[in-house]
Amino acid sequence: MFLQHDWVSGVQVGMALTDVPTPVLCLDVDVVERNIQAMSDWCRANGKSWRPHIKGHRCPQIIERLRAAGWHAVTCATLREAEFAATLAVRDILIANQVALEKLSRAARLARLADPILALDHPDQVTAASDAAHREGVRFRAIVEVDIGMRRAGVEPGQAALELAAQIDRAPGLELVGIMGYEGHLLDVPDLDQKRRAITDALDRLAAVRDEMTRRGLRCEIVSAGGTGSCEYTARHPAVTELQAGGLVMMDAYYRRDCRIERFEYALTVHTTVVSRPTPQRAIIDAGRKTHDISNGPPVFPHGPDGITVLALNAEHGILAVDGPARSLRIGQRLVFVPGYSDFTTMLHRCFVAHRGDTVVGIWPIGPR
Ligand SMILES: Cc1ncc(COP(=O)(O)O)c(C=O)c1O
Repeated sequence: MFLQHDWVSGVQVGMALTDVPTPVLCLDVDVVERNIQAMSDWCRANGKSWRPHIKGHRCPQIIERLRAAGWHAVTCATLREAEFAATLAVRDILIANQVALEKLSRAARLARLADPILALDHPDQVTAASDAAHREGVRFRAIVEVDIGMRRAGVEPGQAALELAAQIDRAPGLELVGIMGYEGHLLDVPDLDQKRRAITDALDRLAAVRDEMTRRGLRCEIVSAGGTGSCEYTARHPAVTELQAGGLVMMDAYYRRDCRIERFEYALTVHTTVVSRPTPQRAIIDAGRKTHDISNGPPVFPHGPDGITVLALNAEHGILAVDGPARSLRIGQRLVFVPGYSDFTTMLHRCFVAHRGDTVVGIWPIGPR
């Protein structure tokens, strides 16, 4: 069977991965399944739910596997992603960022198909979301986003968070279900003991808000937090009820090298070809900025050869310094690497070439952002 996709041509189920034209984004299905299993085991061992973030892959085949593992709720970064999840019949969808007020009518249309949760962090949003719910004849579930130290979005913990929770609780058309926080500023703390303590302290702030909400009779059944780079520690915090981590399904060099996450394997790779060897010290591959991202750190080459340093990326050129064994690289030779950061790499592509071992098993689309 030939596979049709506007970004990938000449790919056939059953063909060898090594024959797929480069540059190409590949996903090892066996590893994806093992990563889902490993996270499922980790969550269950710690008594947590998993609400996997889908922003990194937005892939129906991955969402299907997450559901098969028992996880029916998802986290999204945008309303568009949430709408996409709803087309796959996902109902329980947390939009873990604030939705621009002008899109609240669209969010209300989504609320007729699914049961989204809005993350609110300001009284103006509460008023606007309540108005939109009333206007459109729907109800929104809502959680309070609390800033637990990242200094991104989120209401300050303490009085401000409690007042916001009370306002949501009173607002017609809104159903208060809990709180969220994201410890994203602590993912790459180099000392692991310090990292564990800093994450625990950050989540303690969330726990204090939950405790006070409960004391005041405000509903707080969801306490949502955690990313791939922190889930090792976040899963152990007693107040957290669910983890938002998602990138671990694919993994990448940033999570392993900088966040020191060892629990998951690399499923995502980019296959490239050496197209030029201008000097013995320099090799050029056909994977530049339009193929992968290095802003969170360089890729790794798990199958070697040793001695490669990424000097720079141009649009369609990857410029490599080569030393030691990598000096043997020849024009035409294929090089496989794990991207520096999966999320900023997948956004450059519209599909994965899915494989088991060295055999292509499908083209898996990457949905809209
Ligand atoms: C709100 C929120 N939760 C969780 C995550 C973690 O996502 P991932 O596990 O894909 O790194 C992010 C990442 O940016 C985020 O913004």
